[in-house]
Amino acid sequence: MKPRVLVTRHVYPAAVAILQEHCVVDYKDTYDVMDAALLQKRLQHADGVVCQLTDPLTADVLAAAPKLRVISQIAVGHDNIDVATATARRIVVTNTPGVLTEATADLCWALLLATARRLPAAEQFLRAGKWQRWDVDLLCGSDVHGRTLGLVGFGRIGQAVARRARGFGMRVLYASRSAAAPEVEQELRAIRVPLDALLKESDFVSLHVPLRPETRHLIGVEQLCLMKRGAFLLNTARGPVVDEAALVAALEEGLIAGAGLDVFEAEPRVHPGLLELPNVVLLPHVGSAVTSVRALMCALAANDCVAVLTGERPKHPVNPQVLG
Ligand code: NAP
Ligand code: GLV
Repeated sequence: MKPRVLVTRHVYPAAVAILQEHCVVDYKDTYDVMDAALLQKRLQHADGVVCQLTDPLTADVLAAAPKLRVISQIAVGHDNIDVATATARRIVVTNTPGVLTEATADLCWALLLATARRLPAAEQFLRAGKWQRWDVDLLCGSDVHGRTLGLVGFGRIGQAVARRARGFGMRVLYASRSAAAPEVEQELRAIRVPLDALLKESDFVSLHVPLRPETRHLIGVEQLCLMKRGAFLLNTARGPVVDEAALVAALEEGLIAGAGLDVFEAEPRVHPGLLELPNVVLLPHVGSAVTSVRALMCALAANDCVAVLTGERPKHPVNPQVLG
């Protein structure tokens, strides 16, 4: 009998086709997000699930899925999944690292430039018909070239952002629990420093850590107070890595110069204070939003789901210990 796979929300059709070759696929082509109760109902008979970062695969939800053998997430971050519970149940969890690294680093760089050079404000100014003439101080922003970039988290995406910084003649610092290989540090001219030193010295602080209990509110009041008054905070990692209320207060008080945010604490809700501020650039979680990249992510997740259900080794297990 073919295994049953639940696809929780709209995906690229090729991914459904991959699954249908080997599985009975439970798929409603909808953008609606299932809540925990609906997920529990739809997972009752599922051997596998292809899910997204909007799906709460909590211990309670997993408890309602007695047959589940694989959870394939269409994203690299997997903080919406209770991996410890899955591992205890010997459910394989897979994700989609790598294929989205460059696209997400590109977006981070676009956000950095847009924030420093006030691009959304400049464009709104023009569209509103306010542009009358060139003025010496019209919509001036901050230097990027030659400044110091501090990367918190120096994995795939952090390093890809560091590579872009080289073209801008920037000094690159990074904070990470473990040091990168010496050849990587040398190639990217990146210097590892403690987080506090990075916060004190950087003109741009960019976050690239996964959301884990130890990274929740990694940037709060204390850390924002350490940053330079002219510095910018960029978050393309996960919203809860930053204490959003503390960030709003810091921006209101002028403790830092601005922020560029692609992710938020309670997506899709954005802290109302952020919406009021002129010195922030806000994006709706579009880090990897490139058509070809999203197609690769969907296909990777579908292929890894099929791999587990047909006894093959998946490409990107998050909990490889389950595979033995
Ligand atoms: P990665 O290669 O695993 O890199 C994560 C880095 O964070 C690692 O180098 C890790 O190194 C470091 N780290 C972990 N805990 C840390 C801590 N407590 N303090 C300092 N550093 C810590 O992951 P990635 O592919 O670069 O992705 C990073 C994250 O970006 C994802 O988890 C996801 O949440 C987010 N993301 C967002 C978007 C978007 O659309 N905005 C797109 C893709 C990814 P150590 O373990 O040595 O510390
Ligand atoms: C997107 O946020 C991802 O983690 O892939």
